Amino acid sequence: MNDKPLAGRVAVVTGASSGLGARFARVLSQAGASVAVMARRTDRLEALVAEINAAGGKAVAIALDVADTPAIGPALDQAEAALGPLSIMINNAGVGGEGMAMDMTVETFDQTMAVNVRAVYFGAVEAAKRMIASGVAEAGEARIINIASIAAFNQLPGLTVYCASKAACASLTKGLAREWARPRIAVNAICPGYIETEINSDWFQTEGGQKQIKGFPRRRLMDEDVLDDALLMLAGRRAHFITGTMITIDDGQAL
Ligand SMILES: NC(=O)c1ccc[n+]([C@@H]2O[C@H](COP(=O)([O-])OP(=O)(O)OC[C@H]3O[C@@H](n4cnc5c(N)ncnc54)[C@H](OP(=O)(O)O)[C@@H]3O)[C@@H](O)[C@H]2O)c1
Repeated sequence: MNDKPLAGRVAVVTGASSGLGARFARVLSQAGASVAVMARRTDRLEALVAEINAAGGKAVAIALDVADTPAIGPALDQAEAALGPLSIMINNAGVGGEGMAMDMTVETFDQTMAVNVRAVYFGAVEAAKRMIASGVAEAGEARIINIASIAAFNQLPGLTVYCASKAACASLTKGLAREWARPRIAVNAICPGYIETEINSDWFQTEGGQKQIKGFPRRRLMDEDVLDDALLMLAGRRAHFITGTMITIDDGQAL
């Protein structure tokens, strides 16, 4: 068995300053990839980079507000200048957009769509351009992995805007997979159920949150490591024939 299946590959992870994104960066690095981690909280990115590099990996921190669409391309250029041609793009940055419809603000609605939809779309577009230009796509190594959610296919309480944004994320994943089938860029999504991170930890401390957990078939949240295998599989060299797929990992929460 090769314990560095992603050796020689370059990955970008957006929203890597906490939660799942930080986990993805560690897992990709452990599998041998060089990793550019992006988010707004650069102090956290620097700490993650120091940890990865101290463990023998190669990582760089790049400040990026993904809602600033024109900034996405230059951030990817910075990643390629530091690490080499991009072959794995993880569009992970996301916001919760919580709120009941009667209280929803235009600002929260727009920010949720800007981060969860527009940034995923243009993150994929900017990555795809570079993967084609560098020959990574032609070599069958181009992977775009979008982090959607079970919210893409279900209505979750108090999360109508979030659910709509993740449904759009799932839809554009399939659309881009179809569009880029011939240039050989694989575009897939992972659709997690609830994992306790900063995006939801306040909610799960509440009575309502505890009640929601008791309503899940296995009466529990998932741990951050449950997505590792799907991530490595989709990023791996042997997965070039998997495209336009949604992989749901939810411990049966949506059943
Ligand atoms: N946890 C779950 O149960 C769960 C389930 C299904 C799907 N997901 C999805 O998984 C992804 C990661 O969420 P998480 O659970 O790890 O939550 P988290 O700990 O709150 O992490 C969210 C990340 O997104 C980044 N982000 C937010 N707005 C950004 C912006 N404008 N520009 C750049 N980065 C931005 C944050 O970084 P900065 O604030 O530093 O910019 C942070 O690193 C999200 O897409 C979420 O919807 C999570």
